[in-house]
Amino acid sequence: MDAIHIRGGVALHGNVLIQGSKNAALPVLAATLLAKETSIIRNCPRIADVYRMINLLDSLGCNVSWEDGGIRVDAGNVCEGEMPAEAITGMRSSLCLLGAMLGRCGEIVMEHPGGCVIGERPIDIHIAALGKMGVEFKEEGGRLYARASGLHGADLTLPFASVGATENILLAAVMAEGDTVVFGAAKEPEVTALCDFLKCCGASIEGAGSDVLTIHGRVPLHGGDFKIPADRIVAGTYLFGCAATGGCVLLEEAPIGQMEAAIHLAGQMGSKCEPVSEGLYIQSPKRAALPALVRTEPYPGFPTDLQSMALAAMTVGEGECVIEETIFENRFRVVPPLRDMGADIEELDTRKVRVKGVERLAGRSVEAMELRGGAALVLAGLAAQGQTLVTGCSYIFRGYENICRDLRELGARITSG
Ligand code: EPU
Repeated sequence: MDAIHIRGGVALHGNVLIQGSKNAALPVLAATLLAKETSIIRNCPRIADVYRMINLLDSLGCNVSWEDGGIRVDAGNVCEGEMPAEAITGMRSSLCLLGAMLGRCGEIVMEHPGGCVIGERPIDIHIAALGKMGVEFKEEGGRLYARASGLHGADLTLPFASVGATENILLAAVMAEGDTVVFGAAKEPEVTALCDFLKCCGASIEGAGSDVLTIHGRVPLHGGDFKIPADRIVAGTYLFGCAATGGCVLLEEAPIGQMEAAIHLAGQMGSKCEPVSEGLYIQSPKRAALPALVRTEPYPGFPTDLQSMALAAMTVGEGECVIEETIFENRFRVVPPLRDMGADIEELDTRKVRVKGVERLAGRSVEAMELRGGAALVLAGLAAQGQTLVTGCSYIFRGYENICRDLRELGARITSG
């Protein structure tokens, strides 16, 4: 199950339904800890990271079951459990359990959270903000001990609009005494989804979707019934898959309102993107036109999580483009395997590459080294002539429920095993 085989050179055609969002589901699942009642979270993707989060909630004393309608979490009996170290270190978003457990129990002990190898990913912003809310931290033997004897609101100004730190602050602030105001908050739709879930549990939050959030703490929370929105990064992956192969696809339930920057880039690359009642309809030219420059930025800018897929699509376009990564420092690990497949990519510095479109890529055996880079290799395999074998796919399965099934629905010749 760790490899994906692709016979490339076929344009994507057809319809596919977009799964629920990984990065919205994980903090929302963590947030179910805050209410003593049962919550139901619908449309969660069946991916490894969601199973890990279920495992963590379980180890903290929650009763979690995956039913037809969604994931049911009964957080009536949360205790200070021993969380499986593997589930913490293997997944960056285990970090949102920090805010949730501080909010619910006032303390937590956890391993330093892991995640994709796309950068150093420090947690200084989380620690500084929660510190101002009365949380004391100590690190011992690689473990993080956090305790808040009197969690209180604070005025916080973030030095960078960190998605995870904004989520942690929200989780702690709804349970804190008094008001918290966050200046420079992340505006990503996943933060808004967390605000929406907390509000559906009774929390009082103003400014969701903007860079100033005001949270009125200690409003009693009840369980919530919530639907996770569709995954804008999965939809964007198939959008660039269409652009890479010169296809014509309908992405059912794609969250178009959250995809403006990706749709804009696809438009610059010559794809016609049209919102229709079922979702997003895309028709791409045989070869994409490359714009001069693409720069990743916090939302609503072009998302870092789609940078590798856009790069893969551009390798077979016409013209040349500089791609600049401003969020993570190690997000060009996909360049060497793309070059092995015949792509013309020059690394200008650690944060910038220049891609010159070539007429075709050749199928090869390549290895996924992280989630989004792995998905980009799959797109390159779809565009390439001949057979591509992508190994290391456990990374890809962390974020895509069934990338092979989805792409087969779009006519690709792709199998895993
Ligand atoms: N940063 C710090 N200090 C901190 C926190 C962040 O320096 O305390 C830096 C990071 O090192 C990074 C930048 O700030 O260079 C952005 O980090 P952020 O905290 O915004 O990201 P995150 O919460 O760790 C989430 C997503 C990522 C996505 C980023 C940016 C989840 C689980 N992860 O990460 O998703 O790339 O926001 O949008 O929500 C993915 O799905 O493949 C993925 C990596």
